[in-house]
Amino acid sequence: MKNIANILSELLSSTSKALVRSEIRELLKLTRQPGLISFAGGLPYPGLFPTEEMKDVVNTVLEREGKMALQYGPTEGDSRLIDFLVKWMKEDEGAEIDKENILVVSGSQQALDLIGKIFIDPGDPIIVGLPSYLGGLQAFKSYRANMRGVPVDKQGMNVDLVEDILKEYGRKGEKIKFIYVVPDFQNPSGVTMTLERREKLLELCYEYGTVVVEDSPYRDLRFEGLSIPMLGAMDKRGYAFSLHTFSKILFPGLRMGWIIANKAIMDKLIMAKQPADLCSSPFAQSVIYEFCRRGLLKPHIKKIINLYRKKRDLMLGALEKYMPKDADIDWTHPEGGLFLWVTLPKKFDAEALLPKAIEKKVVYVIGSAFHFDRSGKNTIRLNFSFPSEEQIDEGIKRLADLVKEEL
Ligand SMILES: Cc1ncc(COP(=O)(O)O)c(C=O)c1O
Repeated sequence: MKNIANILSELLSSTSKALVRSEIRELLKLTRQPGLISFAGGLPYPGLFPTEEMKDVVNTVLEREGKMALQYGPTEGDSRLIDFLVKWMKEDEGAEIDKENILVVSGSQQALDLIGKIFIDPGDPIIVGLPSYLGGLQAFKSYRANMRGVPVDKQGMNVDLVEDILKEYGRKGEKIKFIYVVPDFQNPSGVTMTLERREKLLELCYEYGTVVVEDSPYRDLRFEGLSIPMLGAMDKRGYAFSLHTFSKILFPGLRMGWIIANKAIMDKLIMAKQPADLCSSPFAQSVIYEFCRRGLLKPHIKKIINLYRKKRDLMLGALEKYMPKDADIDWTHPEGGLFLWVTLPKKFDAEALLPKAIEKKVVYVIGSAFHFDRSGKNTIRLNFSFPSEEQIDEGIKRLADLVKEEL
């Protein structure tokens, strides 16, 4: 008799065989050891979660509209929340949108999955950054996209190389299905795409007939410098999909985000969402709407920015203080977000180094995890939002000691 595990594996779809475990989630399990300083997660700082305000907000929602909030809701989302988002995106971002351009989703991770679902047939080419957000790569991989990588440097994705790829496919009469970017304080690199590159990227979409997926969870967490318009606002022709979320500006626990998209594709997104979850939690939407309606969101974002700026400064200061000089080590100076990116000397292999780092009780994410082609061996991602201020200093010191030993 065959055992059930073998039978199940024979029953699996080829799609499910393409699914892979997230290395980061696996790694995060390791980071619960006592005394270990983790720069590995991408978690917002929980000390700032507005639990007290939320108690009152939740009570109000239950008392005022409990029967509705606990019922199923429309797939598009709660129309009050959508109105709030339209006003916000119009007034603060200059996006020329209305209600029909917005779909509420269960976190921007769902948006990435829906985009994969509506655009990618197995083998379809898409362009992603080297490096790129791992959850995006995971989503697109699950639809078996053929990924083409374009390096991200300190000005963001290199759009000249994007053009080369678009040309190459154009010559074959094929289309790149979309270009995936995180233009503001990219996860993982912390880099922000310049205005010139954003303009050129949109021009390329218009010229070659493809679209750009702008994934923007960190956009509102700017510590300094001038904001650069979002692609979803610069584009007046419907070629940009703009993905947003409450996860990093409020908290991730209610799984709430939104997509801004061209109306011509909205039906497809809605139909892709329905079999996934029918609708995002109406209760969560009511709660978030009530929080925003009370005017609590913007002051809250300010608090986060102030704390993360301080933590970023501490991390930059510690890198400056402890990392060996003249050793060909470089790191990004993010103007916002949660992460910075360290490039170690060429001969370093961050993956081989990781067990030694864990021995020293500090952990990071290997940069190659964010490269679909496993390049970027000598890079690491460091998160500064979650560790405490003392941990940042001590953790960077431990990392620098390790680097010095390896040099
Ligand atoms: C670039 C990027 N996109 C999407 C997500 C997923 O966010 P959400 O919690 O909204 O699903 C993250 C989370 O870290 C992210 O960094």
